[in-house]
Amino acid sequence: MPVITIANTKGGAGKTTAAVLVATELAQMGINVTVFDSDPQHWFSQWFETAKPRGTITLVNHVTASALEGHMRHMDRSSDYYIIDLAGERNQLTATALAFSNLVLIPVQGAGMDAKGATKILDILARIKTETGIAIPHSVLLSRVNPMVTTHSLLAIKGLLASRGVDVMATPVVERAAFREMFDKGVTLYDMEGSKVSNLDKALQNARQLADEVMRHLPVRVISTQPKKRPWQWGRAA
Ligand SMILES: Nc1ncnc2c1ncn2[C@@H]1O[C@H](COP(=O)(O)OP(=O)(O)OP(=O)(O)O)[C@@H](O)[C@H]1O
Ligand SMILES: [Mg+2]
Repeated sequence: MPVITIANTKGGAGKTTAAVLVATELAQMGINVTVFDSDPQHWFSQWFETAKPRGTITLVNHVTASALEGHMRHMDRSSDYYIIDLAGERNQLTATALAFSNLVLIPVQGAGMDAKGATKILDILARIKTETGIAIPHSVLLSRVNPMVTTHSLLAIKGLLASRGVDVMATPVVERAAFREMFDKGVTLYDMEGSKVSNLDKALQNARQLADEVMRHLPVRVISTQPKKRPWQWGRAA
């Protein structure tokens, strides 16, 4: 089953936001998703506890490197996609998660690219390739992009990174009040009212485009599956 890891050793890069958006969208499509919240600060878990997203998301928290490895080696087929939300630090869990990934998304904020944290992830991926010969697909995900930024300038950034051999997701995560509000209020985009949150329609469209692009990047295209018997498993330790 495809494993998507969201990684950047820099805190606040937009990892958990991307994890929430992709997991929620996949679940909306009827796809079974398991999210590993491997951040000791449990931002994803806190959001999950209050938001109670509709659909089929299973949460695994209190994840350690050895437990994650066990999970990945004996992966059951109850989930269609696995999403690992990493903490903003570099440790054994980072390397373990990356090694088991089918796609690594590296959120990077802004055109100026405060990219040191992203570089650390790229370094680990390069080391895995040297040591094992396995090239793990990875893409930078431009995050918190100002909505005024034009397609033209995004293409320029994409071109710049491509010239350095780094793939960039075509869909950026735009800076939106709705994305901030997901955490502030502990809700999903689908629980918000368009009259109260500006550009909610654009935020929803952005989330859907991102999830679609993520699925296109993965080897298996899952359309939808039967819901699990117990879609809400809260607090199951890895
Ligand atoms: N596209 C966006 N629009 C508006 N706010 C955003 C967006 N992306 C992230 N934020 C806000 O920025 C903050 C940090 O984002 P997030 O928690 O996703 O980053 P992170 O990389 O997971 O951080 P950490 O390393 O601490 O886990 C949050 O308050 C979040 O609401
Ligand atoms: Mg986070």
